[in-house]
Amino acid sequence: MGDGSAKVEIGGNATDYKVRSGTVGPDVIDIRKLYANTGAFTFDPGFTSTASCESTITYIDGDEGILLHRGYPIDQLAEQSSFMEVSYLLLNGELPSKAELEKFTYTISRHTMLHEQLSTFYRGFRRDAHPMAIMCGVVGALSAFYHDSTDIADPHQRMVASHRLIAKMPTIAAMAYKYSIGQPFLYPRNDLSYTGNFLRMTFGVPAEEYVVDPVIEDAMDKIFILHADHEQNASTSTVRLAGSSGANPFACIAAGIACLWGPAHGGANEAALNMLREIGTPDRIPEYIARAKNKDDPFRLMGFGHRVYKNFDPRAKVLSKAATEVLDKMGRNDPVLDTARELERIALSDPYFIDKKLYPNVDFYSGVILSAIGFPTTMFTVLFALARTVGWVAQWNEMISDPEQKIGRPRQLYTGAAMRDYIQVGKR
Ligand code: SDX
Repeated sequence: MGDGSAKVEIGGNATDYKVRSGTVGPDVIDIRKLYANTGAFTFDPGFTSTASCESTITYIDGDEGILLHRGYPIDQLAEQSSFMEVSYLLLNGELPSKAELEKFTYTISRHTMLHEQLSTFYRGFRRDAHPMAIMCGVVGALSAFYHDSTDIADPHQRMVASHRLIAKMPTIAAMAYKYSIGQPFLYPRNDLSYTGNFLRMTFGVPAEEYVVDPVIEDAMDKIFILHADHEQNASTSTVRLAGSSGANPFACIAAGIACLWGPAHGGANEAALNMLREIGTPDRIPEYIARAKNKDDPFRLMGFGHRVYKNFDPRAKVLSKAATEVLDKMGRNDPVLDTARELERIALSDPYFIDKKLYPNVDFYSGVILSAIGFPTTMFTVLFALARTVGWVAQWNEMISDPEQKIGRPRQLYTGAAMRDYIQVGKR
């Protein structure tokens, strides 16, 4: 598709704006001169029709249910790749050679330890603190420890900070879990895979050797791949906006974690499993479907719907299959999975959900697998943040190295009081 132009006419004055085409996906109208030319802003709360940036990292086709990372379909990456390889791909733009992957994996594994002082930081939290609260605090605190990788103008420091964040998130997440159950922290081990290391730090104890179960390791690695990046979602946009002010990378990722926590976003996996458990048995599903359709009831079916996907979330398809595989291989039978499948079947036959194109999203099935592996629901969004860190970091690096990058500063439609004079309290 070629480039064209769009005309905007306000008050009889017409001005033209360049229309740009990407590799694939909707064209964009470059309106950067609109306000200077017309004195008017666009109005798009929630950014439903707004491209905030140009990116080469991830592409989503919501109507076709397609998700590409640097052009590679998510189902192929989930089935054939590894989280370390997908991390390299997201950061560098191409799949690594065997030697490049070995070097990257070696580098990441040697950044997995945390400054020992940070374990003291954990002790300031209550034992029942939500692990996401701990993640927000500890990741933000990293900038107090790693001063040699906070100069965002230095590409080398950006790379070191990127590697540190990807490497340390599993350690931070595992420590948050250990702290919540009163067990000692385990140090990372360089002889284990990225995901195996995380599983051992989470479920291992000093009293005995922890043997990584390859079934669980594979399922966890697949879950990390499926959560790695997703275009300009709310938390990634938060990271980009924080980074546009020149904030250090640790502060930017802490901002992303805070945004991801919301139940409309990454917090939906915890909310979805809690909802499935509250529903309990399939006979209670109609009651919840009715509530989700009731305009006066704020309840929504957690794990359903998506701003972009108006077809199946391709990640949900992979997770739905993985849920059955993991439970079968673990010899587990979780009635919640039966309820989830029945809820999906009923919802997808209901006109309300069909008309509004509300399909299961990435959060609908992930909780069933994570619960089967042994994670409490409070850890679900922590795992989402762990995996999404590579996406946030890749998008942050892309934003910082964009020569046209400016500080993000949206405007508004002001409908408040017109100018008026102050009135002394005795005269009010
Ligand atoms: C993630 O952006 C990303 O890429 C996010 C993510 C990623 O990888 O980063 O994919 C991860 O956040 C997945 C989404 C997880 N959230 C949930 O599962 C929470 C439940 N879903 C909804 O809150 C909602 O679907 C959103 C927030 C996901 C999307 O909301 P939109 O695009 O703003 O759409 P909307 O809220 O305007 O809903 C459109 C209509 C509304 O009805 P009307 O006002 O038009 O009558 O659909 C209804 C909504 O009421 N609707 C639902 C519903 N989701 C939307 N009704 C019942 N149950 C739902 N789940």
